[in-house]
Amino acid sequence: MTKRKPLIAGNWKMHKTGPEAVETARKLAGLTADVDRVDVMIAPPFTALAQVAEVLRGTRIMLCAQNMHWEPRGAFTGEISAEMLLAAGCTHVILGHSERRQFFGETDQTVNLKLRAALAAGLKPVVCIGESESERDEGKTFSVLDKQVQNGLKGLLSDDLKGLTLAYEPVWAIGTGKTASSQQAQEVHAYLRDQLAKAYGRSVAEAVRILYGGSVKPANIAELMAMEDVDGALVGGASLEAETFNQLVHYQN
Ligand code: 13P
Repeated sequence: MTKRKPLIAGNWKMHKTGPEAVETARKLAGLTADVDRVDVMIAPPFTALAQVAEVLRGTRIMLCAQNMHWEPRGAFTGEISAEMLLAAGCTHVILGHSERRQFFGETDQTVNLKLRAALAAGLKPVVCIGESESERDEGKTFSVLDKQVQNGLKGLLSDDLKGLTLAYEPVWAIGTGKTASSQQAQEVHAYLRDQLAKAYGRSVAEAVRILYGGSVKPANIAELMAMEDVDGALVGGASLEAETFNQLVHYQN
């Protein structure tokens, strides 16, 4: 079992209009009102953030964005800055999700720019990393993760890691129904923590939450969360319905 406070986060991706997001957030707030041993967070699409922030006010559910641009303002049509996210009520932002790397050309370098901008603005980043199926099959899992961590986190100081969350999301497990086994997840999470310890010191590494993401469901969450270095889950599909997401939040019951 993790030594860190568990965090169960829902990434709603490109799902839900403002009113739909408000309805789900309201239900979720009611269902999770009793929860204090687990942190809960949701990441609705940009257009729903401000409305959902109103619903979450006074609840323990934290609000997260799914992406941001690294510049504070300017001629960047279609982009959103850290300051805009803060003003909309976000405390966190997901960076470098594999779908953004795969479909929108994000690289470790752009993730690094965004990460620094988020930290400078006071937004807490959730940095996603993970190998593809072919990379795993070729035995490259750890070298791929090394590169993503080293380049993605380049220039960060130990202090910067205080607000940082890592999310290990093997690309082959996202939306496929193929979950990493709890042993596979633990192996990678422990490896990542060791790499952080080498770079930033053991006590810093011990405080960083490392989430697992990829086909997390009520049926497999308890097993994953039983692992020492699995500190939470970043959930896509199973976070869209309040009842199902609530079951994930209550995985200890
Ligand atoms: P699924 O839970 O739908 O596999 O998605 C995981 C994910 O990408 C969360 O960011």
